[in-house]
Amino acid sequence: MNTRIYCLDDHNEALAQAVSTRMTGACIEVVSRTFPDGESYLRITEDAKGIDAIVVCSLDNPNEKVLQLLFLVDALKDMGAKSIGLVAPYLAYMRQDIRFNPGEAISSKTFAALISQHFDWMVTVDPHLHRYNSLDEIYSIPNRVVSSAKAIACWIKDQVEKPLLVGPDSESAQWLSEISDLSGIPYLCLEKIRSGDRDVAVSGDDFSQWHGFEPILVDDIISSGHTMLETITYLKNAGFSAPVCIGIHALFNDATYLELQRAGARVITCNTVFHHSNSIDVNEGIVTAIKEITRP
Ligand code: R5P
Repeated sequence: MNTRIYCLDDHNEALAQAVSTRMTGACIEVVSRTFPDGESYLRITEDAKGIDAIVVCSLDNPNEKVLQLLFLVDALKDMGAKSIGLVAPYLAYMRQDIRFNPGEAISSKTFAALISQHFDWMVTVDPHLHRYNSLDEIYSIPNRVVSSAKAIACWIKDQVEKPLLVGPDSESAQWLSEISDLSGIPYLCLEKIRSGDRDVAVSGDDFSQWHGFEPILVDDIISSGHTMLETITYLKNAGFSAPVCIGIHALFNDATYLELQRAGARVITCNTVFHHSNSIDVNEGIVTAIKEITRP
């Protein structure tokens, strides 16, 4: 392979460098800026004829990033790139997977069609698979899903003496069971009812048998933080200490981060979306997946 790496987001620089080293391909500078009218300018600084391009760009804040991504891909194709893969540690638009109300756009399908049309393959970390069993149901390109479970299990084993994994809802069971299988740490899931973007209620069975354990809340996404906040309150009312909250993808803002800390939680995230709380490194798994998917 004649590999070149293109990093569209400064926050993904460390990952792009790791890919560059392991795939023995140079990182090529992409120059971009915004015109006074708000439109985007983009320039690739080296010829791309015959190369196998790897574009690194986590897709948090997707509306800001996607047009740039498409400009980059089209420019690479025009210049004669042989193949173009996308490495998106966080994959956006996975949560609207059905029409909850009449007339709603099923954005997960539209987004998947757009990405599949422009890229030859994709690697991502723990996408939000709820009503879809696999990305193949909506993505038509080869893809690899990296699991953060091993890295999370190692972090917990290293940091917490008597952990109990707690999931805020049944969807989180997929991540909890994997971490539990790898580490032997017990887990239980609560029930969540969401009645609005920031309106969440959680409930659960009596789990007094677990007193003395340190609860570790695990969810794939922390966004408004309300799922975590409600679960923290629930656990505290049940007599537990404030938990460690582990989110795979840190989609929250600083106000949410502060609120979680004020509730007594220690917030820990994986480095799929840049945030000060990033303490669990999943880059190694990403690079391994890229090697697998690009293997001739
Ligand atoms: C939803 O199904 C996800 O697994 C998360 O629980 C959710 O995205 C968290 O969102 P928020 O932080 O806004 O409650």
